Amino acid sequence: MSLVEAAREAREKAYAPYSQFKVGAAVRTASGAVYRGVNVENVAYPEGTCAEAGAIAAMVLGGETEIAEVAVIADSPAPVPPCGGCRQKLAEFAGQDVKVTLATTRGEVLETTVGALLPGAFGSGHMTSPSDDGL
Ligand code: THU
Repeated sequence: MSLVEAAREAREKAYAPYSQFKVGAAVRTASGAVYRGVNVENVAYPEGTCAEAGAIAAMVLGGETEIAEVAVIADSPAPVPPCGGCRQKLAEFAGQDVKVTLATTRGEVLETTVGALLPGAFGSGHMTSPSDDGL
């Protein structure tokens, strides 16, 4: 099964009673395993979580932290772009060149990368002080 198909299948189980906008995400790790996630909304709207966050949580629970490929799918007019927060979450576990396939349920597909989605990403290197002399 392709990564987009894995995300499509997961999407059916999304919990989106407020937006009615179901999203499915799937990440393939360095080991080849596939972890999936869906958006889970909440009546207190900001407490809802994105599909990408769910897939990442499943991956970490599975003992893995290295994303090799990502797919996200929704019933949107154009391939659904991950929100800003999810771009940062993906960048935590994926290199700049990792392929991200954005898809619609109607079969439209847009291929991009983690680096293209989040240019200038904040990383651990930004927490090193220029005055840090190593002592
Ligand atoms: N959503 C995702 O799950 N992933 C995205 O990348 C974009 C937005 C969800 C959050 C919310 O449940 C619904 O889509 C509408 O914003």
